[in-house]
Amino acid sequence: MPPLREEKCSPESLLSVAIGAARAAGDLLLQYARTGFRIEHKNPIDLVTDADHAAEQCVIDCIRAKYPTHQILAEERGAEVQPASRYHWIIDPLDGTTNFAHGFPFYAVSIGVEYYGCGLIGVVYDATRNELFTAQAGGGARLNGAPIMVSATEHLDGALLVTGFAYDIRDTPNNNLNHFARFALKAQGLRRTGSAALDLCYVAAGRFDGFWEVKLNPWDMAAGVIVLREAGGKVTDFSGNPHSIYQPELVASNGLVHEAMLSVLREDPSP
Ligand code: IPD
Ligand code: CA
Ligand code: CA
Repeated sequence: MPPLREEKCSPESLLSVAIGAARAAGDLLLQYARTGFRIEHKNPIDLVTDADHAAEQCVIDCIRAKYPTHQILAEERGAEVQPASRYHWIIDPLDGTTNFAHGFPFYAVSIGVEYYGCGLIGVVYDATRNELFTAQAGGGARLNGAPIMVSATEHLDGALLVTGFAYDIRDTPNNNLNHFARFALKAQGLRRTGSAALDLCYVAAGRFDGFWEVKLNPWDMAAGVIVLREAGGKVTDFSGNPHSIYQPELVASNGLVHEAMLSVLREDPSP
């Protein structure tokens, strides 16, 4: 149950705290990229750095300074035990850790806020390019303050698609390589950037036409799906059902190529 008389927060104030937190954490990531960081392995290909931890702490401190009672789920720390609040912050402090660790400048801070379980605020900050993607449910999506919208590409053979692979790629046949091979023959182009949060925002901004992934976590998607929806995009699971950030599958598109993407994902892989 939510605490009695939990104060209602204005979306503008939630958005401004999320933006402040994302910018502060993004600046910290740039500082670590310049001065060096330590790498640990969660598994042979899944890394975490001290920059991930520092950026996460920075985001949490910014939220706690203004909203001490809200629920928080952060990738590295997990869920904080709090009396239930209607507000739920979902944080990926560094989406694109492998890129970051290799000095490939494509990563972001991702912060989503849910109210009563519905996405309300999404902020994704690419500090390298100083690109700030923001959205508030019902208020549209923006890039550095300017409205953005999805592309008008109608067919897969004219579409630039993007995907990613989970860290269990070596251990399971459900590793997305089958879908990747089929889309490679149907789309105009296919990319793997290494940051799901930015992939969603790039679909929102019309830079990609569609994105799918088999196994994402809530913190990869929480902010990006709000930005995408507010930019006029569509997001579902692989069967076309309503999307939940608490389910791993995601298909996101400009809406126009969505059905075509779902039918490629449904194709029987057997010869
Ligand atoms: C990963 C990235 C990547 C996606 C993986 C995610 P991380 O997040 O978003 O693009 O393909 O599924 O786990 O580990 O860099 O925060
Ligand atoms: Ca992530
Ligand atoms: Ca991460």
